[in-house]
Amino acid sequence: MPAVRVSRPRRAAPADAVRPTRAEVNLEAVRKNLHAVRKAAAGQRVLGVLKADGYGHGAPAIARTLERAGIDGFAVALLEEGVELRDAGIKAPILVMGGLYGDAFEAVLGHDLIPVVYDRGHIEALARAARHAGVRARVHLKLDTGMARLGVRDGELPGVLDALRAAPELEVEALMTHLACADAPSRESMDEQLARFERATTRVREAGVQFATRHAANSAALLRGAPTLGVVRPGLALFGLSPVDGGPALSPVMRVRSEIACLRGLAAGESAGYGSTFTARRPTVLATVPVGYADGLSRSLSNRGEMLVRGRRAPIAGTVSMDMVMLDVTDIAGARVRDEVVVLGAQQGPLGRDEIRATELAELAGTIPWEILTSISRRVPRFYREP
Ligand SMILES: Cc1ncc(COP(=O)(O)O)c(C=O)c1O
Repeated sequence: MPAVRVSRPRRAAPADAVRPTRAEVNLEAVRKNLHAVRKAAAGQRVLGVLKADGYGHGAPAIARTLERAGIDGFAVALLEEGVELRDAGIKAPILVMGGLYGDAFEAVLGHDLIPVVYDRGHIEALARAARHAGVRARVHLKLDTGMARLGVRDGELPGVLDALRAAPELEVEALMTHLACADAPSRESMDEQLARFERATTRVREAGVQFATRHAANSAALLRGAPTLGVVRPGLALFGLSPVDGGPALSPVMRVRSEIACLRGLAAGESAGYGSTFTARRPTVLATVPVGYADGLSRSLSNRGEMLVRGRRAPIAGTVSMDMVMLDVTDIAGARVRDEVVVLGAQQGPLGRDEIRATELAELAGTIPWEILTSISRRVPRFYREP
């Protein structure tokens, strides 16, 4: 097999965990979400999007779970991510969407990865590598229908189709596009892009370039019922979050928890944390929790976010620091050192039950749930649960 340099992500392993801060990944929830996605896909093939280390959940473990549960294939952004899944023993088809192959087309073929192509350079280099290896290579041709990020623009289509016709080593398995506004309140932009995709599809057919199937739908498009194209490409929904209102019930997969490391009492008027941005208005009990922005807890949650202790919400007091955060636990009766603190997910405790969802954290932090999940950093060990 040709050599490819893969930068292997080094993650904290459960065995390394001294600190009580960890991400628990519920594999049963992943299977449930696949079931819901399959139902929404109504017979279309499902490619699970596992880029960015499976949205921060650990791509190899999620891929193994989904593969055993019968998913049709995977999509990743980077060649390295595809190689990592193959090295983990994943046999299902893997689509590499990011389009950056450098000089590593041999590695693409050697690892049986399916590259997304959208320019003549890709097509010519891949055809050479396929000829050299004596194989036929499958590709997905990406068309830009309005996202203006990657994909063949209308004006470039004739040249790209010429290159494909001149490359008998390549088989276009699918046409694909990506939707910019599938989760917008109105369907107008999504429908316009899908209409452009239809027109571009006709041009590809008329040029005599064959393909077996097509795909466009991310989670939002799938869950709001985009037209059936043959294949869907959801990511977020598999991790239990819906980017649109309504739709099937999904089960959040990741729970991030830590513990109270120490407690202290502040007199009214005393301040806490960097910049002294929190000042006690009353006699206050502060809990220090060993999770900070280097773990993925956004600094913009300073004095805004909440965490769960004993089943009840405790506000973040002061500025989130790199490795720690303080909570105001004055109103959490009985709060003690080593009490569990939930940053993301549900908690049942003596004072009740509550849940903090990634969507809630995203809104508070001025971002999106995708960023909340993918920001949980590699120093937070992932513990996989099979309840
Ligand atoms: C090209 C492409 N397809 C599919 C997806 C999956 O999107 P989502 O996580 O919204 O389902 C992404 C993720 O951003 C993507 O970039």
